[in-house]
Amino acid sequence: MPSIQLLSPRLANQIAAGEVVERPASVVKELIENALDAGATRVDIEIEQGGARLIRVRDNGSGIAESDLPLALSRHATSKIASLDDLEAVASLGFRGEALASISSVSRLTLMSRTAGQEAASKVEVEGRDMDARISPAAHPVGTTVEVRDLFFNTPARRKFLRTEKTEFNHVEECVRRQALGRFNAGFTLHHNQRAVQSLRPAETAQDKERRIAALCGQQFIDNAVVIEAEAIGLRLWGWVALPTFSRSQSDLQYFFVNGRVIRDRLVAHAVRQAYRDVLYNNRHPAFVLYLEVDPATVDVNVHPTKHEVRFRDGRLIHDFIFRTLHKALADVRPDDHLRGAVAQSFGREQSAASELIAAGMPGNHWAGQSAGQARNPPYSQSGSPDIRPQQGWHASDQMAFYNSLNAGGGVDVSGADPGALAGAQPDNNDEAPLGYAIAQLHSIYILAQGRTGLIVVDMHAAHERITYERMKLALADQNLKSQPLLVPLSLAVSQKEAALVESHGSELQQVGLQIERIGPETLVIRQVPALLRGADTEQLVRDVLADLIEHGQSDRVEAVTHELLGTMACHGSVRANRQLTIPEMNSLLRDMEATERSGQCNHGRPTWTVVTLSELDKLFLRGR
Ligand SMILES: Nc1ncnc2c1ncn2[C@@H]1O[C@H](COP(=O)(O)OP(=O)(O)OP(=O)(O)O)[C@@H](O)[C@H]1O
Ligand SMILES: [Mg+2]
Repeated sequence: MPSIQLLSPRLANQIAAGEVVERPASVVKELIENALDAGATRVDIEIEQGGARLIRVRDNGSGIAESDLPLALSRHATSKIASLDDLEAVASLGFRGEALASISSVSRLTLMSRTAGQEAASKVEVEGRDMDARISPAAHPVGTTVEVRDLFFNTPARRKFLRTEKTEFNHVEECVRRQALGRFNAGFTLHHNQRAVQSLRPAETAQDKERRIAALCGQQFIDNAVVIEAEAIGLRLWGWVALPTFSRSQSDLQYFFVNGRVIRDRLVAHAVRQAYRDVLYNNRHPAFVLYLEVDPATVDVNVHPTKHEVRFRDGRLIHDFIFRTLHKALADVRPDDHLRGAVAQSFGREQSAASELIAAGMPGNHWAGQSAGQARNPPYSQSGSPDIRPQQGWHASDQMAFYNSLNAGGGVDVSGADPGALAGAQPDNNDEAPLGYAIAQLHSIYILAQGRTGLIVVDMHAAHERITYERMKLALADQNLKSQPLLVPLSLAVSQKEAALVESHGSELQQVGLQIERIGPETLVIRQVPALLRGADTEQLVRDVLADLIEHGQSDRVEAVTHELLGTMACHGSVRANRQLTIPEMNSLLRDMEATERSGQCNHGRPTWTVVTLSELDKLFLRGR
């Protein structure tokens, strides 16, 4: 074996670059992060040939003092931390002190900078295997420009992995999008081959922020999003989550920031998925832009060189906080939230949707920037609107009669519904119901209703299914998951780890109606299961629960399977298509939808209703306004 030698600085940096600099977009990420760490309020990014030929990032941040320039490009040199304590509570995006050294070892990098205290700017570049810094005078305003040419010119293996110009630029764009979503107070411009691609002004107000989200994630997203804002136990979660009916076939519109840093995290992904569980089609993905703010000391950012991952000190707490916040926000979505989205889409796009709606006198909490969970204002209480309430009053008794008639047909028992609560559904004279009032039934399938915004069409079966399902869930929650002994206890071969888990989580398992005992190092016996799930595949259920416990420290499997079962029961117990309803019956269904959690989607994630606005109708009939 050859003798041991010290690597040259360039080679050592190239090895480090292997981890951090995968493609042009990784360079762009590091350079923007440096600019933001320097307090820049403006970041201009120029790209040529997808970044393979040129990446130039200019900022108006603090700049680097001339005396510090040689260090800026050397490895293990940073101004951001000085001690282990600093590392454990890092607030800046960078801290490793190696990005510029790595990038300059695999490209031709020059850095120009000037601080406010300096008369003139200087330029630095490195050369040779020792990467000696060469400094010369330059012209530059306060701030920094980093130019990276010919990426991977000296590492052909890496260069070979570069994709087409278009693909690489797509990655760059995605990277800029993330950074721009992460820092509202900075403006960004992006050019590709001298063509302007993106230009974002700093966003100060809530409206500016929504405009930026619309520019980066699409107007559709913001029109269909609910504002999240929650704070508890030193944690804050805010941002936007899309309504379940605006789901995606891919997980491509999911942005999660922890203290301003965009991350991908399994724990977070699981919490979000769980919150959407009841309202999304199986293979659909939710869309969201969310910001979590936590004490930096409770999250370890030094997990991976690219800093795309973090480790939470108390993962379970974070998981619960995210899940609960989103779950509640989604459950609280009511028809008026959907309507705002629909109405916004039918307005012109010249002004932001938000200002249109405010101008239209629809003071919804969404646009007012309040939390999604707060009590809603009556959405359409403007005076002067046409009176579309039914001529005769309709009463809680209509509603009861409606359900009772369903029950007579073998439906689900909802006679326990509180008549007092139903009485509250009666229209009072100032409010109009978001879903309007029934005018007809179409082919015994759809309810047609007249609302202030236009024509509302409700899929009667889908809507009723959700209402029944939510009621069954409530009823179930009251009695908890009643447990029932198995006639023949079921024994199960598992790993030692799983068996140990059953011992340590006994009380949690009991809570969900599972009584499981360890009777050998690798053997379990299942004695009791939730009464409702007697017929289910018990073994599979328990295996799934254990797998969840291993991966996430908790499991919502029993609840999920129970809900699935309730969903099926609700589907069979709900009003079928082809059944004639009276106007009061239809109205009581509409009022119930307004009052029911997640009533915008049926149990399979399909929408339960839609609106055709007056302006859309006007367009159909070429009626100019
Ligand atoms: N745009 C900039 N404006 C001001 N200072 C900068 C800029 N870019 C780099 N620096 C200075 O150069 C140092 C080295 O930057 P580099 O990106 O290599 O390391 P880092 O940001 O400290 O850590 P990391 O490797 O995690 O990015 C920074 O600590 C900072 O002091
Ligand atoms: Mg850096």
